[in-house]
Amino acid sequence: MKQVKLLQNVLLLSLFLAVPGSNEAAKPHIVFIVADDLGWNDVGWHNPDVKTPVLDQLAHEGVILNQSYVNYVCTPSRTSFMTGYFPYHVGSQHLVFRPDQPSAIPSNFTFLPEKLKELGYATHMVGKWHLGFCNWKFTPTYRGFDSYYGYYSGAEDYYTHYRSIGSEGGIDLHDNKDAVTNQNGTYSTYLFAQRAADIVNQHDPNSPLFLYLPFQNVHAPLQVPKRFEDMYANVEDENRRKYLGMVSALDEAVGNVTMVMQKRGLWDNTLVIFSTDNGGMIIRSGNNYPLRGGKTTLWEGGTRGVAFAHGKMLQKTGYTNNEMIHAVDWFPTILAAAGGTADPGMDGLSQLDTIISGHPSPRTEFVYNVDDVFPTVQGAIRVGDYKLIEGFAGIPDGWYPPPNMTGSPEPNSMNPIIGTWLFNLKDDPTEHHNLADTMPDKLKEMQAKLEEYRKTLVPAINPKADPKSDPQNWGGAWSPGWC
Ligand SMILES: *[C@@H]1O[C@H](CO)[C@@H](O)[C@H](O)[C@H]1NC(C)=O
Ligand SMILES: *[C@@H]1O[C@H](CO)[C@@H](O)[C@H](O)[C@H]1NC(C)=O
Ligand SMILES: *[C@@H]1O[C@H](CO)[C@@H](O)[C@H](O)[C@H]1NC(C)=O
Ligand SMILES: *[C@@H]1O[C@H](CO)[C@@H](O)[C@H](O)[C@H]1NC(C)=O
Ligand SMILES: *[C@@H]1O[C@H](CO)[C@@H](O)[C@H](O)[C@H]1NC(C)=O
Repeated sequence: MKQVKLLQNVLLLSLFLAVPGSNEAAKPHIVFIVADDLGWNDVGWHNPDVKTPVLDQLAHEGVILNQSYVNYVCTPSRTSFMTGYFPYHVGSQHLVFRPDQPSAIPSNFTFLPEKLKELGYATHMVGKWHLGFCNWKFTPTYRGFDSYYGYYSGAEDYYTHYRSIGSEGGIDLHDNKDAVTNQNGTYSTYLFAQRAADIVNQHDPNSPLFLYLPFQNVHAPLQVPKRFEDMYANVEDENRRKYLGMVSALDEAVGNVTMVMQKRGLWDNTLVIFSTDNGGMIIRSGNNYPLRGGKTTLWEGGTRGVAFAHGKMLQKTGYTNNEMIHAVDWFPTILAAAGGTADPGMDGLSQLDTIISGHPSPRTEFVYNVDDVFPTVQGAIRVGDYKLIEGFAGIPDGWYPPPNMTGSPEPNSMNPIIGTWLFNLKDDPTEHHNLADTMPDKLKEMQAKLEEYRKTLVPAINPKADPKSDPQNWGGAWSPGWC
């Protein structure tokens, strides 16, 4: 009797093990590529002056996502990507985490790679984190990634990998838990593309791979190897020329990674999601024309991101999809592609049918941001075709044509930066016509909705800088251990 029971258990167990095993081969590899501060008008499919042949081809072979929204700056968008929650539900809605602040995404949030590991994925990350590192428990390999190569903070020198803030400064480049001190002089894009290629080369193509590739490009400082800058010899403005070179360096890096995936036989079963984290930063030569504003603003130029999806599993391709997608949706979408489902209550909604078949988006509204920390008391929402901004809209305001001529761009809008704005984005995607005065009922309805959202605001994580963070305390590198 006992033996029969044992046999039954063994059979059950082998059945149980066989099911996920046999499914795994079919699970797609997923590459989630995030560009940093890449503007609406900074990709070849929106602006023929920009040389992005690889990204253009992927976008055209796949689905261009024309209404893919992101948050207004880095930390909030990366929060959305990794948690599936709007930043104002996490506490990361107020600007960005500085490296000397003991700030991090709270431990009760489950990160996307943790869920993917449960589904049998190998999970690797290369690039920028920006979600907190003052304790090891907040760093990538403790939040679901099998390996990590990159930097913890929001920006740094592309060649020295040195980040300074105030009088503090140190190396911010890490290989899993070790500081990397022998790459001074090598452009980060080369390092990141090479690490991504190494991961692919070492990966068993029969087991599913999740690769999160948040590149440094094209965030300031404006640095790029000369051969990329030389691709834009006709652009007179030096900063714009460098910036565009950085875009093309990113493009080449993506090409290198996809080439290795093809060589290794992973490509035909790979889903690629490409997104910027926020709009282009106008004062750093990014461009979002004809959209209004840019990075650090709630205008469309700061929040309507360039994005596409690519992969053989997409059934409808070669078109521009205008369905409403938000950065929070990538968590449940990627999870669904991997055969999983998100926890109930998550802000994100799966857009898998939207990107695979062009089905209508399950999303009809979203929150651009809600923040009550002075001086940026602000709130903005989208409901259907309408958008409400209340309070601080962010700076700079205005519509900036590409800064490809000599001289720096000047704001060409004298509008107030604090106010109430109502737009119909369907008729007016560039936000020229404030309807707040002409549609009082719509305004009231939207304001009431925003107040409902505001009720669930979680206080902003915004602690004072801690001198213990100083890299001099940690062997010269920005390191965990001080919170
Ligand atoms: C995490 O904890 C915070 C504070 O208690 C709470 O507001 C939030 O809803 C929690 N989130 C999750 C996903 O558990
Ligand atoms: C990198 O190399 C340069 C030039 O040799 C040197 O000036 C700089 O101090 C080095 N930086 C770091 C972070 O090692
Ligand atoms: C892409 O790969 C080529 C060939 O290995 C290499 O020369 C180039 O530097 C790589 N580019 C990037 C951006 O990594
Ligand atoms: C500047 O950009 C505009 C619009 O994209 C384009 O028509 C023009 O050719 C560009 N000029 C230069 C010098 O790059
Ligand atoms: C993409 O969105 C813009 C702005 O709303 C719109 O003008 C354009 O027609 C859309 N593109 C396509 C191909 O649908």
